[in-house]
Amino acid sequence: MAKTMTRATSLLVLTFLLLLLFLNSVSSWKRDEFRTCNQTPFCKRARSRKPGSCSLFATDVAINDGDLIAKLIPKKPREENGEDEQAQEDEPIKPLLLRLSAYQNGILRLKIDEDPSFDPPKKRFEVPDVILPEFHNKKLWLQSVSTEVIDGDSAPSSIVYLSDDYEAVLRHDPFVVYVRKKGGDLVLSMNSHGLFDFEQLRTKKKEGEDWEERFRGHTDTRPYGPQSISFDVSFYGADFVYGIPEHASSLALKPSRGPGVEDSEPYRLFNLDVFEYIHDSPFGIYGSIPFMISHGKARGTSGFFWLNAAEMQIDVMGSGWDAESGISLPSSQNRIDTLWMSEAGIVDAFFFVGPGPKDVVSQYASVTGTPAMPQHFATAYHQCRWNYRDEEDVENVDSKFDEFNIPYDVLWLDIEHTDGKKYFTWDRMLFPNPEEMQNKLAAKGRHMVTIVDPHIKRDESFHLHKEATKMGHYVKDATGKDYDGWCWPGSSSYPDMLNPEIRSWWAEKFSFQNYVGSTPSLYIWNDMNEPSVFNGPEVTMPRDALHYGGVEHRELHNAYGYYFHMATSNGLLKRGDGKDRPFVLSRAFFPGSQRYGAVWTGDNSADWDHLRVSVPMILTLGLTGISFSVEVLGGSMERVRREDLISGISPGRGVQPMIVTQPGYCLRSRNLEGDETWTLTEYSSRTMTRMYIELIIKERNDLSWRERNTELMRDAIHIRYMLLPYFYTLFREASSSGVPVVRPLWMEFPSDEATFSNDEAFMVGNSLLVQGIYTERAKHASVYLPGGQSWYDLRTGIAYEGGVTHKLKVLEESVPAFQKSGTIVPRKDRFRRSSTQMVNDPYTLVIALNSSLAAEGELYIDDGKSFEFEQGAYIHRHFLFSDGKLISSNIAPSTSGKMLFSSDCVVERIILLGNYPGAKSALIEPANHKAEVELGPLSLQGGRSPNVLTIRKPNVRITDDWTIKIL
Ligand code: NOJ
Repeated sequence: MAKTMTRATSLLVLTFLLLLLFLNSVSSWKRDEFRTCNQTPFCKRARSRKPGSCSLFATDVAINDGDLIAKLIPKKPREENGEDEQAQEDEPIKPLLLRLSAYQNGILRLKIDEDPSFDPPKKRFEVPDVILPEFHNKKLWLQSVSTEVIDGDSAPSSIVYLSDDYEAVLRHDPFVVYVRKKGGDLVLSMNSHGLFDFEQLRTKKKEGEDWEERFRGHTDTRPYGPQSISFDVSFYGADFVYGIPEHASSLALKPSRGPGVEDSEPYRLFNLDVFEYIHDSPFGIYGSIPFMISHGKARGTSGFFWLNAAEMQIDVMGSGWDAESGISLPSSQNRIDTLWMSEAGIVDAFFFVGPGPKDVVSQYASVTGTPAMPQHFATAYHQCRWNYRDEEDVENVDSKFDEFNIPYDVLWLDIEHTDGKKYFTWDRMLFPNPEEMQNKLAAKGRHMVTIVDPHIKRDESFHLHKEATKMGHYVKDATGKDYDGWCWPGSSSYPDMLNPEIRSWWAEKFSFQNYVGSTPSLYIWNDMNEPSVFNGPEVTMPRDALHYGGVEHRELHNAYGYYFHMATSNGLLKRGDGKDRPFVLSRAFFPGSQRYGAVWTGDNSADWDHLRVSVPMILTLGLTGISFSVEVLGGSMERVRREDLISGISPGRGVQPMIVTQPGYCLRSRNLEGDETWTLTEYSSRTMTRMYIELIIKERNDLSWRERNTELMRDAIHIRYMLLPYFYTLFREASSSGVPVVRPLWMEFPSDEATFSNDEAFMVGNSLLVQGIYTERAKHASVYLPGGQSWYDLRTGIAYEGGVTHKLKVLEESVPAFQKSGTIVPRKDRFRRSSTQMVNDPYTLVIALNSSLAAEGELYIDDGKSFEFEQGAYIHRHFLFSDGKLISSNIAPSTSGKMLFSSDCVVERIILLGNYPGAKSALIEPANHKAEVELGPLSLQGGRSPNVLTIRKPNVRITDDWTIKIL
């Protein structure tokens, strides 16, 4: 009896502790839960190393299999480097193998690993399935190497061809790898500060600190000892560096070390579930992309990418950091130095020479892939909340959108729709007829998204768990048992997504037969895939957990979510007739995630700082391949205070710029819940249970306020819908070249220094510039418009001079947004319930004239759904306005005279911004009919404007070649 009591008491205590842990994981950011660099042994060690401490030199340099290979051998014994003498006795340092390969378009790949002929205790983890198979066909087979002492240097170097303009150099002693313009200026270098270090795997001979590490009561074993790698990388001719998401920080990365930088942490890349992360911090959050881009007036743009899935920390050195300590390389110029540190893996690094910003992102995309082309509906407006209670709630919200006349395309269901957080199931009390619910939405052209997380409830009656256990599909703990962690369902296990067979097994679960209650209009949301483990170290899986092939979790942590996203997306690809493009939104990401869907920026909060930082976060994602990224507007969590919603993120000021301009967005909207009520949901921490309290706030006295804000919201969403043809064209550009949909200004204006660190404004494609407003009740905004052209206000059509900072009035209903002169933007202006209902609507073309009264633009259309575009089933038009004529011509490659996709849509209106002189009518050729011309209006604003000209109803088919001549 006493024994039973004790067991019961300990169970209670355990449950209480787990609840505490759980509550911790959903209350605001707790600094102490996460490690600092000083608490992370490899980071601390790497940061304390002195420049010049690397004594490796390159020997046995040769060409082998079209690559340059060499051995790296230490010159000095270890103790001279201040390292542990004992370690040296235990395990002498073995040579490392270095391999340099050149690829088309100025890409250099560098691999450094242990030499297998010295029998390392195991093979280090090399990340599979990220590099595109076709990248290997771009290899340039090196034929020869010249070894010489380069002028201005003191040691010999081996030089190989990289492209007609660039060459790669391996300096021998100490070893440095660099890329330079042929015979001239440096672009990028590795180890020019001698900070390279590679901890080789060892086998445990006696006890000691090396074999485990502790953090907040968690102990991670290290069966192979420390295995980190660190090195310095320098970017030459650089004014700023960017990239390495995900951090809530500025676009141009601030120095984390060096003179004047006090106590900063390095930029951390470690996928973590960080609830309400702070908005200006190098702290790592949900995703990791170790790709950095530099840009400068002197030499343009270059990039460095390290394919490594272990925890990484990166320091950006401020100017003046140990400037003298490096090896002085010939023709070195001003540079930005960085230090890269990773806990495990190998060196598999890529140097991209640019020289333009779009070249670098395309070079990166040729290695890791371009973003998947989304379905058209996915680029429209999504509505989500944690949680829609039941089918009635869904129906109510859906009908409110119609009643308020606001279009939307997707409704999201969070974890509560499932039966006890068992994914692929439905709570049949609340959602008794899921198919019918989806079909009702589909009838209006709308879609549904349900959440599927990676933690599987350890419930013996759950078929998925039974199957996964039986088939041995779970990640193992360090002792080899199925790893058991705590997440939404309670005790959970995690499928081992590194294993391709397990990924196929997972993908099968999305078939309509297996996912009972799913229909073809249902798509998927992958959350918590860092993976999030409420009772794990730093809210994630222990580093010594074991994956397929004996890979330790520490080696692949940052890629777990990527493999999960991949498996889910493949599941959607396979289901049904396999014709539709998948849509899967993931919280965790890694290089290559862009091929599997979109990501969002996680659990932000509803305040101006988070709104502000969302812009650099999304721009950074775009620069590093992930063009389709989403910000949850109005704050991710339902803990938002009513006042914040009202005064802070008011629709006009906050929501609008994002809806209009981000590649994706999701609004956790609460103002459409009912005529007279606002519904807010909140956590109650007092009850110690995970419950939401529905807070119904009566708004009877504030009806006019609500009407006004609904109108602003409608307006903002409407503008987004008008711009969908432009967005879709940009998504196509991204999916073919890697150039992101939203771009930093410097990507479009690479020599305009005033744009280099501007992350308050951004470009949507090459035509629209948007200036965000990030302070409450701002009356004015300073807007810098890049020089070399003029800019037309999107609403008024008024032209502003470029190269100048304008102080502009900010209106409640808009943010400053401009169309660049010389561009043509396609729109669809009719108002519908969803984007699907706009398919046959006519187009409006907005021509922003430049000083020579010319402009050009493009429009891409396909069926918005299938993969047939890959076989040429699409329309791609080029519009050119010059000499008073607008010419539409085909730019799709020929499909042997066959038209694989067609559209009956016509152009119903052409708006010319800029003073086009003396127009009376327009002649359409070859049809040879006339269309009317009138002054104004600009349909965004109404009213007539002297410098706006409209050609009414030219009604030319979008698929045809035609000319419209202004008479
Ligand atoms: C965390 C996600 O970030 C959030 O968006 C979601 O609502 C909750 N998990 C519950 O699924």
